[in-house]
Amino acid sequence: MSGAGRPAVGGTRERARAAAFAPATVANVGVGFDILGFAIDGLGDRVTVSRTPFAGRVEIEGVAAPQGMDIPADPARNTATAGLLHLAEELAVPHGFRVRIEKGIPLGSGMGGSAASAVAGVVAANALLDRPLPREKLLHYALIGEAVASGSIHGDNVAPCLLGGLMLVRSVAEGAEDVVPLPVPAELRCVVVHPGFRLDTREARAALAPDVPLKRHVAQSANLAGLLAGLYRSDLALVGRSLADVLIEPQRARLIPGFEAVKRAALGAGALGCSISGAGPSVFAWVDSEAVAKRAKEEMSRAFEAAGAQSVRAWISPIRAAGAVIEE
Ligand code: HSE
Repeated sequence: MSGAGRPAVGGTRERARAAAFAPATVANVGVGFDILGFAIDGLGDRVTVSRTPFAGRVEIEGVAAPQGMDIPADPARNTATAGLLHLAEELAVPHGFRVRIEKGIPLGSGMGGSAASAVAGVVAANALLDRPLPREKLLHYALIGEAVASGSIHGDNVAPCLLGGLMLVRSVAEGAEDVVPLPVPAELRCVVVHPGFRLDTREARAALAPDVPLKRHVAQSANLAGLLAGLYRSDLALVGRSLADVLIEPQRARLIPGFEAVKRAALGAGALGCSISGAGPSVFAWVDSEAVAKRAKEEMSRAFEAAGAQSVRAWISPIRAAGAVIEE
């Protein structure tokens, strides 16, 4: 699909170029492995897409990425363009796409970098279509892009990145994608701390046992249900009690030097709960005020540094951050 392509015919030329910014996200939210995620403010990827005359062709024009990130140059293997190849083919788009990628989210940080590029790519390309698709229909194409990076189809980064806020991903089955926005109590904030090293999502997924002991399944289900009930009732004490991952965190914590100390620091600073952000190594905490957020950010960063992390960065964000936007 990335070959010579057909010359474009027809179509009204509304827009020749569009840039989309897509935010970083925190997936899993502790108790919702592969099914919960939220968008955060202050960090994201930007993808600029231009029309070309060659239908079906997707080209990568350039990549701006800090610290020499190894971004695949093949459009079928690049997270920002893999979904576009499918979009171009399935919709028989009468023109091609040339793509420029600006990576703002560190690779392998657990903050949804591959999802953000995938989402920004399809959102920008969609803006160039003669008949753009509704936002929800883009999920399918963004999931394809995310899958080339992580090796599996899961939407807990892609859905909030595309749509904003806190999302439950009930299904990613093709043609039956089902995502549900969840309510977020107004006081809730999050702190995300990145220790500066890279953890590959495939490696973090390979670290997980394929089966779940029944007792753990029951405990995790109770916590997931408690978290959702707490959100719907604006009961932050229930949210805090329920934000306890007994399934995935115990298996991945060893991949993140200092994790236990960082979690203790967050809870000691007054956080409601703390766990691994996505596949890690970033760690997130939910807090109920700006003051606790600032304290937790400092203490968590200090704990990572004490464990040897070299370039710690941290963010405070509402949990109602916007999804991807077209930049004018
Ligand atoms: N739910 C995914 C995981 C998020 O934890 O592996 C990272 O892509």
